[in-house]
Amino acid sequence: MMAAGRLSFGNITALAPMVRIGTLPMRLLALDYGADVVYCEELIDIKMAKCHRVVNEVLQTVDFVAPDERVMFRTCEREKDRVVFQMGTADPDRALIVARLVEHDVAAIDVNMGCPKEYSTKGGMGAALLSDPDKIEAILKKLVTGVSIPVTCKIRILPSLEETVRLVQRIEKTGVAAVAVHGRLKEERPRHPLHLHHMQAVARALSIPVIANGGSLDLVKTNMDIEDFRKATGASSVMLARAAMWNASVFRDQGPLPLETVMEDYLKHAIRYNNHAFNTKYCLCQMLREKVESPLGKQVQAAQSSAELSEALGLQEFYQQTQDQLQAKRDALQTSSQPETLVMDGDVATMAVRFERREYPPHITPKMFLLEWSRKEKLEKPLYEMVQRSQDRSFQSTVTVEGKRYRSTLWEKSKKFAEQAAAVVCLRVLGVPEGRIGEEDSGLVCKRKREGEGKPNGTAEEEGSNKRHVFETQQETDDQKKSVGVENGERHKQAMTS
Ligand SMILES: Cc1cc2nc3c(=O)[nH]c(=O)nc-3n(C[C@H](O)[C@H](O)[C@H](O)COP(=O)(O)O)c2cc1C
Repeated sequence: MMAAGRLSFGNITALAPMVRIGTLPMRLLALDYGADVVYCEELIDIKMAKCHRVVNEVLQTVDFVAPDERVMFRTCEREKDRVVFQMGTADPDRALIVARLVEHDVAAIDVNMGCPKEYSTKGGMGAALLSDPDKIEAILKKLVTGVSIPVTCKIRILPSLEETVRLVQRIEKTGVAAVAVHGRLKEERPRHPLHLHHMQAVARALSIPVIANGGSLDLVKTNMDIEDFRKATGASSVMLARAAMWNASVFRDQGPLPLETVMEDYLKHAIRYNNHAFNTKYCLCQMLREKVESPLGKQVQAAQSSAELSEALGLQEFYQQTQDQLQAKRDALQTSSQPETLVMDGDVATMAVRFERREYPPHITPKMFLLEWSRKEKLEKPLYEMVQRSQDRSFQSTVTVEGKRYRSTLWEKSKKFAEQAAAVVCLRVLGVPEGRIGEEDSGLVCKRKREGEGKPNGTAEEEGSNKRHVFETQQETDDQKKSVGVENGERHKQAMTS
């Protein structure tokens, strides 16, 4: 399948791109069961272009994180040579920016030209591209010449055979490595029969691999059907969406596995990679299908967390062990990070410091010192942003002062301490006194001491600083909720994207 390190699309079986389904756990499951190539869900270029790449050392993943901290795309070494990044785009320049962003973490780039859903067609993406071949050509040419990995696209057929063949021939000339063809018109629903003649004509007309898609409902029910579908379409490869979503063991040569086993295998990946519980639950419910009203189905539906989903599937022990392992890794990483050493995390200045109450006189805190200093410098009040990680409910705060951001890498049990730690980092980076006992007298200590007397916590000043609290991670589709937060102990909000 791999030639000179480049992913080849000839004679492969692939997991098709599926919004909400094609996140990391499902892709790994499909690979476990024998899929050769796995597509991620469609990710929209505008959103991806704003992401930054973060190496998640705890999970050992690479995360593409949006400015609002959501993880838009998570991948790992295991799938690096097999994962195809599918994007929704209608703009060659933006498509290239996104392709370059992910280029070294994925095996190929695919452009969605088949999705008829509004979130994709609006703005001219998805199936809307089918009526704009000039745009198709511009996007694909830009990508093919701009990145070092293979580029593919996924289309639907056009009303006539001739138009369809003309389109794919034009696509082939752009230099793409393969074309996936969903054998339906853009107006047709997944229950409509496939147009095998169109697919055969495409396969005959092209010399690059054609990947046949659309057979899940009636043509591909078992692994053995995959080969028949390949032959029936004349294509060199096959891509499965719904059949894999219902039971990913369809990729297994050795035969299918019981649904319960597949669900368990899926959930293990979801736990290991800290997939958001709502996404995990959604995928499990899709697998259950008509069994969603069974006792197991009801338990899954009632679950509100990964722990509860684990309980429903009898994986409590696995869940706990994995949490312990991840926590141990987090702790080890924290211990190994050098205190007092400034490390830039993107645009955030970080240090591994804690706020130790006993190091400061009563009523004196670093936050007060930072606020006072900002006033003196005629700057805006420090802005604190709080995040909470899900597994141990601890907090981390980032403070913005003069447009620059500061944070401690250490997580705190209380919000107050997290903000104090962020203030300490900021003050230390700026070289400003922070009010510690024994610190060279800045004058502020004495003044504050006097003012603080009589105040219960000495925090009245601090309340003047701006606060923005951000909670619990969500991994949701765009058109769903926008709740944000942190998971994995890393500063990421997860997002399922359209
Ligand atoms: C839940 C779901 C989500 C989908 N999301 C995408 C997507 O993100 N990108 C895409 O090109 N097609 C998407 N599709 C279409 C599938 O990739 C595929 O073309 C279609 O389901 C027909 O293949 P099948 O018969 O194997 O299901 C989606 C399909 C389903 C069922």
